[in-house]
Amino acid sequence: MAICITSTKGGVDKTTLTANLGAYLADLGQTALLVDADPQPTLSSFFPLRHRASGGLTRLMVEAATADVISQTTLERLDLVYSDDPDGKLRDAVDGRVRLKHLLGRPPFAQYDIILIDTQGAVGPLQDAAVAAADILLSPIPPEILSAREFVRGTVTMLERLRPMAFLGAPIGPLRGILYRLDRSRDARRIAEELRREAYLPSKGAITILETAIPASVVYREAATYRTPVHRFDRRRGATPSALDTLEALVAELFPHLKTSPTSSGE
Ligand SMILES: Nc1ncnc2c1ncn2[C@@H]1O[C@H](COP(=O)(O)OP(=O)(O)OP(=O)(O)O)[C@@H](O)[C@H]1O
Ligand SMILES: [Mg+2]
Repeated sequence: MAICITSTKGGVDKTTLTANLGAYLADLGQTALLVDADPQPTLSSFFPLRHRASGGLTRLMVEAATADVISQTTLERLDLVYSDDPDGKLRDAVDGRVRLKHLLGRPPFAQYDIILIDTQGAVGPLQDAAVAAADILLSPIPPEILSAREFVRGTVTMLERLRPMAFLGAPIGPLRGILYRLDRSRDARRIAEELRREAYLPSKGAITILETAIPASVVYREAATYRTPVHRFDRRRGATPSALDTLEALVAELFPHLKTSPTSSGE
């Protein structure tokens, strides 16, 4: 099962969300693979590595070679295909936009419980390939109604443009929007409800807005500085949801079949 964290915008916490969701799932006992499909390789260095493979996404996508493209992070059960500058080479491949999907469906990738693909915040062949490879899409939404509407418009356009991929055996998965960097001045529930009404029909039901929202909090940046999963860093329970509460709620919504408390505290 593959999930692609994507947006038509940059700087909307995609990488932070991909890394931390992957680490949280790995702590739940799932085998997880992070795939960095952003030429700016932020996800690739988010967690320290214990094994660095000799190749990354370029080798995988351009040569369709799967040998030694999987690196291991220092976190148990969390692996990585790092980004090694695919600088447009993808465009040369006739099957470019569906190649990643077909590769990830085979060993050694098929063994993972979950594959999480991070993308760049710009439309392009690599973003298309990442979106096509996923069973579901997860998109951060700005917590402000005008930008959120713009998000819905941009996303509907992207989904419409990619819809014909179904003819190539890569139907585009349903999209879950998540409000991010929410502060107390915003009424998340009201924005979410308004967006639900506005997104559902134009997207023909393809876009749904999650109940879980990500609060604005310095812990996400702090944890990243220490190269540590944020749920290990911020475990407090209280009025504002901690990162642990947030990830627990997010996973329960995205993957209802999973039990959602980490098996190891990881200290
Ligand atoms: N919930 C949060 N509250 C406050 N700041 C956050 C939160 N999540 C992430 N950040 C910070 O926001 C910044 C941007 O995050 P991130 O790099 O994940 O975005 P991105 O969408 O991957 O950007 P790009 O499009 O450049 O790849 C980072 O400095 C990150 O630490
Ligand atoms: Mg990023």
